[in-house]
Amino acid sequence: MAAEVDPHFPYGLDRPKQARGTAGIGMLAGVLTLVSALLPNAFESGLVVLVLFLLLVCIGSFVISAGLFRTASSSKVKAVDRLLNGLDLRGDEDALDLGCGTGLLCAGLAVRLPDGDVTGVDAWVESQLTPNGKAVAKRTLSLAGVKGVTLRTGSIRELPVQDAGFDVIVSRDALAMLPSGAARREAAAEIARALRPGGRVALLEPFGTRAVVEELRARGLTDATRSRRRWSTMPPLRTITATKPAAGA
Ligand SMILES: C[S@@+](CC[C@H](N)C(=O)[O-])C[C@H]1O[C@@H](n2cnc3c(N)ncnc32)[C@H](O)[C@@H]1O
Repeated sequence: MAAEVDPHFPYGLDRPKQARGTAGIGMLAGVLTLVSALLPNAFESGLVVLVLFLLLVCIGSFVISAGLFRTASSSKVKAVDRLLNGLDLRGDEDALDLGCGTGLLCAGLAVRLPDGDVTGVDAWVESQLTPNGKAVAKRTLSLAGVKGVTLRTGSIRELPVQDAGFDVIVSRDALAMLPSGAARREAAAEIARALRPGGRVALLEPFGTRAVVEELRARGLTDATRSRRRWSTMPPLRTITATKPAAGA
């Protein structure tokens, strides 16, 4: 089933400090580039190195901040649609979204699972996504026309869900937000615990993917792999996929 969530709906800005910070650095470097380029003999002395350096900082900062804002407005929705379409869902699975934020993946799952249940878990860290919060997620999902998603407050390192309760577990850019490889391994162990036999996991993550794949393998999941980076979002994402062996397999 290839249903899509509204690509123009706002699901929040990830990494708001970095997005605004790099935009600010870009502007400052742009002004300093102009000022230093206008100095007398700017291109005949060692000053030219400074002008070129400032120009590079300006361009680099604008590329990163434009990427972060573009990811928030459209690229992350496309990346999530690709991920969910790739799962080829039947429509009756029970699905869990780790670090659901304002509900982008929950919305995408809900339209694809008319006969299943969708649960989102988040600790609602505002410095990682703005706006963020359970009330924000509820309002966002309702404005997007999505019903029937259960939202739970909790940590993805200690999921507030039962063992073997989900056919599908997904996430985007939430495990990467954890403070260490050990924390990401805890989250991966929780994924293995919460999946039903035969269940599948599909994660989009920019960093720390090796530890997650290793832990999923250590917990007995088969075919645990990570893809190459895709550069359509900022930061670029890898896809991690794995399957929990069916009972008796
Ligand atoms: C960059 S946002 C991504 C949100 C959402 N997955 C999306 O694609 O729009 C990261 C999310 O992970 C959540 N998060 C970070 N650490 C968490 C933890 N330990 N437990 C639960 N959620 C966490 C944050 O609150 C935030 O909503």
